[in-house]
Amino acid sequence: SILVLDFGSQYNQLIARRIRELGVYSELKPHTLSVDEIKALNPAGLIFSGGPNSVYDTDAFTIDPEIYNLNIPILGVCYGMQLMAHQLPGGKVAPSDNSAEYGETTMQVTSDDALLFQGTPQEQVVLMSHGDYVEQVPEGFTVVGTSDNTPIAAMQDVSRNLYGIQFHAEVQHTAFGHEILENFVKNAVHAKQNWSMDDFIEQQIAEIRATVGDKKVLLGLSGGVDSSVVGVLLQKAIGDQLVSIFVDHGLLRKNEADEVMASLGGKFGLNIIKVDAQERFLNKLAGVSDPEQKRKIIGNEFIQVFDEEATKLKGIDFLAQGTLYTDIIESGTDTAQTIKSHHNVGGLPEDMQFSLIEPLKTLFKDEVRALGEKLGMPHNLVWRQPFPGPGLGIRVLGDITEAKLEIVRESDAILREEIANHGLDGEVWQYFTVLTGVRSVGVMGDGRTYDYTIAIRAITSIDGMTADFAKLPWDVLEEISRRIVNEVSGINRVVYDITAKPPATVEWE
Ligand code: XMP
Repeated sequence: SILVLDFGSQYNQLIARRIRELGVYSELKPHTLSVDEIKALNPAGLIFSGGPNSVYDTDAFTIDPEIYNLNIPILGVCYGMQLMAHQLPGGKVAPSDNSAEYGETTMQVTSDDALLFQGTPQEQVVLMSHGDYVEQVPEGFTVVGTSDNTPIAAMQDVSRNLYGIQFHAEVQHTAFGHEILENFVKNAVHAKQNWSMDDFIEQQIAEIRATVGDKKVLLGLSGGVDSSVVGVLLQKAIGDQLVSIFVDHGLLRKNEADEVMASLGGKFGLNIIKVDAQERFLNKLAGVSDPEQKRKIIGNEFIQVFDEEATKLKGIDFLAQGTLYTDIIESGTDTAQTIKSHHNVGGLPEDMQFSLIEPLKTLFKDEVRALGEKLGMPHNLVWRQPFPGPGLGIRVLGDITEAKLEIVRESDAILREEIANHGLDGEVWQYFTVLTGVRSVGVMGDGRTYDYTIAIRAITSIDGMTADFAKLPWDVLEEISRRIVNEVSGINRVVYDITAKPPATVEWE
């Protein structure tokens, strides 16, 4: 493996991910590991990540310089390169003055023997983001890259297999970042590029078994991608030592609860306790029309139901969660760390103590999807569109009744069916219907109607933070509208939401 030692850059996990894409297992580890701990992990190569510090800061992140004597190839990126220059004899880092450089920069490769730049052009665009810079390379190093503001943009000591780049090779803006990292992997580390998601699965299963032993693990299933993948992975690792709780709050989409049970409970054999809490939620929500209050009620009730069920179970030591890399703020956490369960996302009784298992915490969303597919999970589950925790509760505007939920469920099912029929589900990021509170006059057959209006919301987005309305073809919208009015009673009008986020939000409440 190639370990990425984390010195705090926002890009650090991306480095590990790029190395995995090159077919070599890579993980982010805290820079606080001792040399002995690193040796025990037996890495084929090391990468020192970037970081926000200056090597001259009093609490600057550092590493035992003994690391340079282990004969492990090392690539220092940004701060990682500066740390090398600072620690090795003869090197010198200059504090930032006017030399700070942020953004895309043209770099010249200054040596034909630059190992990292084999097969890349002499002049290339790299992404710089640094204040300090290396003013003098350590003994034994040569300068192999330079830019206008950064005379020493890259350095190497091939005999000791030590390399430094001042720019970020892991980001897309660095034109030949992939090639540069591949050169390190191939020509410096000489790593076998044969790692795949199958290995990840095996590795995780072994790790989960070793951690859990013969104890029991609890998982809260939401029907979403992340918790489902965790469930299937854990089931493979520890079988019925995994107990899952699935709360059906009655705010799920049409057939969703049954599909979760049939797929995860049936095909994949998860031991699922399904809690039918529809009435509880409906009763608590009756007559409440303020969006924030609705959200609070749904959230609190969910925690209560989950707690009640969890408390009934005896002898559970671990809680599994579908935490992704993007969900964790601090890096390099251990596989299982003891937490006060109360502080968990789901919220659990205060007196219950669990250890946490988060097998997805090194992965990005698309890697989780790839993992799900490797585990044999169905396409529609793995590629499920985002669905909010409060579910259809925030898609019935105003107060919620079962009759209104039924209207949203049915209209949403028609929308999803038509989007799929027209092969648009890969293009539209999220799509759903909203039952507005607006009633208007219509005519059906010979009679006047005075019924509700359904709004269709369909967006394109990268992460849900900003969004555009999807430019769905008119004929598809026409078909959807016709079907909803014909097939869903209580609806006589369909409108299309053509607002971006911002200023609107994706959901209507
Ligand atoms: P908004 O409406 O905030 O939605 O523009 C952005 C994305 O987040 C989803 N969303 C939620 N997801 N719990 C969730 O897990 C929530 O309470 C929640 N509210 C909104 C929304 O579906 C969209 O994808």
